[in-house]
Amino acid sequence: MSKEEVVAKTAEFIKNKFANDSTGHDWWHMYRVWQLAKHIAAGEKGADMLVVELAVLLHDIADHKLHGGDTEPGAIAARRWLQSLKVDKQTTDHVENIVRHVSFKSADTQNELDTLEGQVVHDADKLDAMGAIGIARVFSFGGANGRLIYDPDQPPLENYNYELAKLKNTSAVHHFYEKLLILKDRMYTKTGKQMAKHRHKFMEDYLEEFYAEWDGKL
Ligand code: ADP
Ligand code: NI
Repeated sequence: MSKEEVVAKTAEFIKNKFANDSTGHDWWHMYRVWQLAKHIAAGEKGADMLVVELAVLLHDIADHKLHGGDTEPGAIAARRWLQSLKVDKQTTDHVENIVRHVSFKSADTQNELDTLEGQVVHDADKLDAMGAIGIARVFSFGGANGRLIYDPDQPPLENYNYELAKLKNTSAVHHFYEKLLILKDRMYTKTGKQMAKHRHKFMEDYLEEFYAEWDGKL
């Protein structure tokens, strides 16, 4: 099977698998991250595009949050799929490793991605949690999980952290502080950093408007 066929078959597999997903990982998340990854890779030299495209398509195949924090089911599912297509061992091992390490864990854990391909996939995935799309996703996830859009009576947003977040069903606005506003400083690639800067600024401006409207000042 040619590389193009392997990528096309994987895209079709993932599109079918995520057709009706409501956990924030629908097919169009995979699609956007795929386009972002190609864009970011174009700004770097020498990324193996087969690894990038396969890893990006498979990166959320089994979300660790739905498996009690375990990243193994995703890595194993990715490996099984690639083996079924008879993808070579080196590519399969590399993709499996990226799938294992790409997910955001906490504000104080830096992901272990030491290859360019892994870093491209990481940056693409995180960018989709930022900016206008990221804002849409955070409120969509919040609604689907019974969270308020914002609750000023919940823990103060300064010094808000991941451990606190795990204990409470905090509001969607709280999630900006536990994750979305941290992502800018997690980027690995030059293009990822530039794009994250723009998306970060958009989220900051958005929050400023949000609080002004909250207090009836705008
Ligand atoms: P990643 O693929 O980086 O691990 P997640 O699976 O954590 O991303 O999140 C998927 C989407 O759901 C993201 O856009 C994220 O902002 C949103 N999300 C995750 N956790 C929460 C939460 N506690 N409150 C609101 N939105 C959330
Ligand atoms: Ni993702």
